[in-house]
Amino acid sequence: MINAIDELNNQILACSRCPLAYARKNAVLGEGKFNSLMLIGEAPGKEEDEKGRPFVGRAGKLLESLLRTEGLARNDVYITNVVKCRPPRNRKPSPSEIAACIPYLHKEIELVAPKAILLMGATAASALVQGVGVFSSRQKNFEYNGIPVRVTLHPAAALRNPRFVPLIKFDLETSKLLLG
Ligand code: URA
Repeated sequence: MINAIDELNNQILACSRCPLAYARKNAVLGEGKFNSLMLIGEAPGKEEDEKGRPFVGRAGKLLESLLRTEGLARNDVYITNVVKCRPPRNRKPSPSEIAACIPYLHKEIELVAPKAILLMGATAASALVQGVGVFSSRQKNFEYNGIPVRVTLHPAAALRNPRFVPLIKFDLETSKLLLG
């Protein structure tokens, strides 16, 4: 019997709601542990598009190493993106692409039922929490449908500026505390 998450994922794999569908190699599905910490990024990059998995490129490697320093393995958390298909040349997804894809994220959150959500970067932050800037929102408490939400920088920003690494590490640590 097909369950609700498989049904959602099949819809995403067959999606043609926006032009990104026509350039993708693979739609990138969320993966990981339900009822835990959900990490949400922006959109797949080149490696993610090739492999059909989220955060498997350089930013993903950094994220995994930061999770490890917090005693978390990749499969202790759930990892996904706001937009499920790669924007060309890794540009930011447009407002209309985000609007086309966001119902999938809303449904994914309902089904995965995370205990806490960490939004990584400006695209994820503004997709779930209205009008917030990433730096000013760090270490503040937000909520989405009763689920505690935190905001941090995107790991790709820390690849460009290593001074951000300890900030993301700290935000992972405080988000982990929300799991109880
Ligand atoms: N950046 C993202 O936002 N998501 C990925 O899956 C990879 C890089």
